[in-house]
Amino acid sequence: MKVIDNIQRMVMFSKLAKKESKTIGLVPTMGYLHDGHLSLIKTARQHTDAVVVSIFVNPKQFSPGEDLEKYPRDLKRDEEMARLAGSDVLFYPSDADMYPDGYATYVDAEIFADTLCGRVRPGHFKGVATVVAKLFGIVRPDIAYFGQKDAQQSIIIKKMVEDLNMDIDIKVLPTVREKDGLAMSSRNIYLSEEERKEALCLYQALLKCESAVRSGERDAGKIVKMAKNIIKERPTARIDYIEAVNTKTLAPVDTVSCETLLALAVFIGKTRLIDNAIINP
Ligand code: PAJ
Repeated sequence: MKVIDNIQRMVMFSKLAKKESKTIGLVPTMGYLHDGHLSLIKTARQHTDAVVVSIFVNPKQFSPGEDLEKYPRDLKRDEEMARLAGSDVLFYPSDADMYPDGYATYVDAEIFADTLCGRVRPGHFKGVATVVAKLFGIVRPDIAYFGQKDAQQSIIIKKMVEDLNMDIDIKVLPTVREKDGLAMSSRNIYLSEEERKEALCLYQALLKCESAVRSGERDAGKIVKMAKNIIKERPTARIDYIEAVNTKTLAPVDTVSCETLLALAVFIGKTRLIDNAIINP
């Protein structure tokens, strides 16, 4: 596996791969890899000839006061994990290379970016869409892989690719969970032992709602309330949002009459965790 730490060399690698008629798979990440990331890399390995994993803790998607400085980083460990999962290239650009002085261009998915997580993290998805558009421009993937864990992000990237006529196939893969059901996340490392136990309430709330839908409940308000009640039982948990929305438009729904995204964001102590389920009558 090659480690490439500048844009110019990454562009050269991709040009050569294209010349050799190889398909390129891209897995964008912010590093501190876990099994969720590895499932994307392994799938990319199966589908494409050249697999590029990018690691870039993108400053433009963190608001002031968020965890940019303390976001976990461990390049050596990530290198080994990406290599074992079948990556050909680890692309690890610097902040200065990605955003040189005078950088001015942004991608903003507007109403898609202002709802759910975007309400409490203004500018977050503008930062995400911009960096992903840049990575697409640099790596020129045929297929790019994202996780269902970050449902709103995946929807925004699909929308960006459609709206900007990017010739890239976006694959969204299922959320990988710990044995007890907690969705894997680089941020789980912030949780104390006690908080780690309490964090399970996100998954428990989703399970309860899924089971209610299976039993015939269609009232989105009641379903959301069920989830809220489960989370409110935990002393360290504070709900940021729990919403039932349309999976394509992210517009709130009153009735679960078609595929619906039940999305939640909950603070466990100081750590903000997200999770979601697609509920389908
Ligand atoms: P990061 O949080 O590192 O996640 C990288 C990719 O892994 C995303 O597509 C995310 O949805 C996926 N992922 C994370 N946890 C997962 C899990 N438990 N199961 C399956 N997939 C999971 O998301 C980002 O980085 C950034 O916003 C990025 C897209 C790289 C842009 O900076």
